[in-house]
Amino acid sequence: MERTLIKDLGEKIGQEVVIKGWVDVRRDHGKLIFIDLRDRSGKVQMVALPNHTEAHTAASTVRPEWVLAVTGLVNKRPEKMVNAGILNGDIELEITGVEVLNESLTPPFSINEDTKLVDENLRMKYKYLDLRSDRMKNNLIMRDKVISFFRDYMHQNGFIEIETPMLMKGTPEGSREYVVPSRIENGKFYALPQSPQQFKQLCMVAGLDRYFQIARCLRDEDSRGDRQPEFTQLDYEMSFVTQEDILQFTETMFIEFVEKVYPTKHISQKPFPRISYHDSLAKYGNDKPDLRQDKNDPNELAFAWIVDFPMFEKDAEGNIGAAHHPFCSIKDEDVDKFMKGEDLFSIRANSYDLVLNGYELSSGSIRIHQADIQKRVFELLGISEEERQAKFGHMLEAFQYGAPPHGGFAPGIDRIIMLMQNEPNIREVIAFPKTGDGKDLLMGSPSVVSKKQLDELGLEIKAKKKE
Ligand code: AMO
Repeated sequence: MERTLIKDLGEKIGQEVVIKGWVDVRRDHGKLIFIDLRDRSGKVQMVALPNHTEAHTAASTVRPEWVLAVTGLVNKRPEKMVNAGILNGDIELEITGVEVLNESLTPPFSINEDTKLVDENLRMKYKYLDLRSDRMKNNLIMRDKVISFFRDYMHQNGFIEIETPMLMKGTPEGSREYVVPSRIENGKFYALPQSPQQFKQLCMVAGLDRYFQIARCLRDEDSRGDRQPEFTQLDYEMSFVTQEDILQFTETMFIEFVEKVYPTKHISQKPFPRISYHDSLAKYGNDKPDLRQDKNDPNELAFAWIVDFPMFEKDAEGNIGAAHHPFCSIKDEDVDKFMKGEDLFSIRANSYDLVLNGYELSSGSIRIHQADIQKRVFELLGISEEERQAKFGHMLEAFQYGAPPHGGFAPGIDRIIMLMQNEPNIREVIAFPKTGDGKDLLMGSPSVVSKKQLDELGLEIKAKKKE
């Protein structure tokens, strides 16, 4: 008999079906044994009656998380037993046969309850069990819906998805990079992308206007609630656009996103308020203000644009650096100061952030597309001609071959889903997240590699840091 999904049982009242899934709970009342069975689509209560002797005996042996194929009759529940408002609350499966497909060890924590209170390291080690729980499974199902929405929206608006390399040369985006040693050229390394920033700009030079990518990004930085070493961006770039075009496009997309994917939520202010970086610092003390009217309302979404970011900033050692990245264009009003190299920290870039409920959701900018302006940025950043050529020669060269004006944006997918699902951190919306110190507790990475691998890579481990 063909397998019926548990969510579809309501359409099969009076029929015999086969369902397959995991034992959620078993309540043994002697004569009557109740088992809740769970598959990806939902749960159902089943009952083993003593008159089906074989099935009853089998039912008495099963334990939580065993995998079963159950044959049974879909019965309506008597009126007073109906559990209104929940899936299959009005039906029950009368078990006629039980086939044990696999047994299970006793899980280290209960899966039929919200796993939020379970020690997080334990959940990470047994992620495949954690993901069986309703909340975690639902987060991943919603993640898929969110990504599908954005992908469809991009295609409907004439964007093409282009995959850019994972093995690349370092990018100057502020964070530490993960590096991958080359076997063929010992002593040389690839960098894993912090974002596809340079490649998406090169796509614009290539005339592949309207690029997007559901892009995996990697940054070797300490994790916290809204940061993971691996994360995903909805990365996009457009040619022949102004800052206003990108803000309008993005705002329309987010409004439609909320209406279609999260219709129970409401946006507190439309159009989204726009605040200059300077005003945001003065008024809220930060550049990601939480503008919700009611912070206890789980359905309120307070989007805001922060605009006019400075182009340059001082780092911890007092050295000048690019506030966002060195490819942002300069505001027309400040170009004069920029060319003269005056009052550098007051120079504003055509760069903008989207914030939501106190989190930075996205950053972007209109880029520099002229090689001479790009060179000037590097000059002001104190990057020598030699270093410029070594690090960015390819970009400077590309800009000399008819680079169009262009700009883009990159909303963080994990943060969007975290906020939409009302989760306290992005680990709850990532299938296999890492700990704060970058460990994968399930697989046990990072891990040592063999002497042979090290030899091939021309590497030697100097000294191990203490654990
Ligand atoms: P930026 O570095 O600001 O910009 O990143 C854009 C968005 O990506 C998300 N994000 C992260 N999410 C989880 N964990 C992290 N470690 C992490 N780091 C960033 C955030 C952030 O707003 N190339 C530019 C974009 C552009 O200019 O088009 C960039 O990557 O939601």
